[in-house]
Amino acid sequence: MQILQNISLKPYNTFGIDVLAKHFVSVTNIDDLKNILKLKEFSNKLILGGGSNMLLTKDYNGLVIHINMKGVEIVSDNGDTVWVKAHAGENWHQFVLWCIENNYGGIENLSLIPGNVGTAPIQNIGAYGVELKDVFDSCEAISLESNEIQIFTKSECDFGYRNSIFKQDKKRKFIITSVIFKLTKGQHKLNINYGAITSQLEASNIKKPSIKDVSNAVIAIRESKLPNPKEIGNSGSFFKNPVISNSQFKTLAENFNDLPSYPISESEVKIPAGWLIEKAGFKGKRLGNYGVHKNQALVLVNYGGAKGEEILNLSKLIQKTVKRLFNISIEAEVNIL
Ligand code: EPU
Repeated sequence: MQILQNISLKPYNTFGIDVLAKHFVSVTNIDDLKNILKLKEFSNKLILGGGSNMLLTKDYNGLVIHINMKGVEIVSDNGDTVWVKAHAGENWHQFVLWCIENNYGGIENLSLIPGNVGTAPIQNIGAYGVELKDVFDSCEAISLESNEIQIFTKSECDFGYRNSIFKQDKKRKFIITSVIFKLTKGQHKLNINYGAITSQLEASNIKKPSIKDVSNAVIAIRESKLPNPKEIGNSGSFFKNPVISNSQFKTLAENFNDLPSYPISESEVKIPAGWLIEKAGFKGKRLGNYGVHKNQALVLVNYGGAKGEEILNLSKLIQKTVKRLFNISIEAEVNIL
């Protein structure tokens, strides 16, 4: 394990923003991680997983710790259910594919989400009717205060929409080192009611889909709507979908009769931020080497060479415009650093 100096973070964030880390270390095991955390000379430490949910706006003046612990193992199996432990540095999509190859179900709707296993619980990644919490059993995390490993059960993680305890009370207090997933072995419970999945399966004439078919359908949908970070830098949905009251929705719907909404409680609905941003005229807008994706207005993109600050300013302009037009505040989903 070597601490490097003045390292470009461009390969380590899916937005492809080129900023420098003053110090950088990649850790492949827990002992090394514990030793690094003990070092007193670095007061500022940034924990970096897959770099898929962050916008870097300036050079980092401290130590970047790249979590690179690999490995997948079965911890328990009762014939119907399998408990699989994946280490934090495993690439999320590769792990999903591994589960599908082994016919372990539950995770297929989460195919092709960028990022790593260790950061997936922080924002409770979700897509097409499934969230990480649905397959989460527990995780191990190192406390930055005590340097001890602690186990968090599902209820302790307090998962919500793109939210968990690791974004709230325990924010920047723990590093997740591995996650245990609870998956089905045979009697898979498929989630195929999400409109786009249903039509994708119909288009392929698949009547009795396997988990592999569902994964392929999700991959096809994502590829048609979302830019591949290897080709165009991005961080998935830049904003969260906002929640508004039924009464505000009613007033808005009088002016915008095509406004989509999803009920989330008796008094509130969720509105797709992508729709609001599109209506505000930003979809596909390009400003030099950055902009808003042409197929999904929720995704801001770096065509190459953009500065984090420029993308941040665009996001602020979008927020201001949406607020002015709809009186709705949209909140960034990505972490701004
Ligand atoms: N819409 C528009 N214009 C757009 C984009 C969307 O009008 O440019 C409308 C669509 O017509 C549709 C609605 O918004 O009526 C919902 O669109 P979509 O199904 O694409 O989902 P989303 O709400 O935009 C969320 C997640 C995605 C996830 C999809 C599918 C958030 C912030 N985003 O997007 O997650 O893949 O649902 O489940 O919740 C991510 O978090 O990075 C991510 C990509």
